[in-house]
Amino acid sequence: MDIVFDQAQASFDQRVVLQPLSLRLTERRIGVIGLNGSGKSTFSRLINGLLLPSSGRVVTNGHDTATDTAKARAEVGYIFQNPAHQIVLPLVREDIALGLHTRRLSKDDRDRAVLAALERLDIAHLLDRRAHELSGGEVQLAALAAVLVTEPDIVIMDEPTNQLDLRNRNLVQRVINALKENVIVVTHDLGLIADFPRVLLFHDGQLVHDGPAAETIDHYYRLAA
Ligand SMILES: Nc1ncnc2c1ncn2[C@@H]1O[C@H](COP(=O)(O)OP(=O)(O)O)[C@@H](O)[C@H]1O
Ligand SMILES: [Mg+2]
Repeated sequence: MDIVFDQAQASFDQRVVLQPLSLRLTERRIGVIGLNGSGKSTFSRLINGLLLPSSGRVVTNGHDTATDTAKARAEVGYIFQNPAHQIVLPLVREDIALGLHTRRLSKDDRDRAVLAALERLDIAHLLDRRAHELSGGEVQLAALAAVLVTEPDIVIMDEPTNQLDLRNRNLVQRVINALKENVIVVTHDLGLIADFPRVLLFHDGQLVHDGPAAETIDHYYRLAA
């Protein structure tokens, strides 16, 4: 993974919500924390070109998100804050296959890839379930499987344990820790990122701390006091 922000700024209707930011991310696990509205989701959406910088550049694995959006996007799997919105087809198997629709795969190969993605997360039993009948934890994992099937280098999860009970939260944490992919986690669940080598703290649209988890969490406590 190699993500470069070069004086990248984000604005909505002339209002700057992310101040010009320059950094390079190469660690396999990156946490992003900060108060509500501090710019965490904005930052994460810049990485895969869901949002383009109003000035400056974001280059994800060598692809400028503004000029090479499709290639940048293919590097990143993004799981939204409310993954239920990401599930569009009735059956789990159909929804996960959706990510493969641009590939020229035989039906057998597609079915195999879908099953493999579910098996990686120990949720093969959800294959023929109705997506809108899944529990919160199952939705989070199904959305993750839908992303993994596209073989991204980087997985971004926006508040993945929000609204999960403790058992599902712990399950999602174990799954995140076991992923071979690079992972960027935006969260208020500080336990989730407590072992991460690098955690970014945003405040009022600015990166105010960038360091190992314990150090950044300490800054966050002081900032929120
Ligand atoms: N689509 C949008 N249009 C206008 N303002 C937005 C939009 N998305 C986010 N913002 C604003 O940008 C700021 C940062 O939002 P966001 O990145 O979602 O914060 P966080 O994820 O840290 O809660 C907030 O003030 C928010 O209201
Ligand atoms: Mg957010």
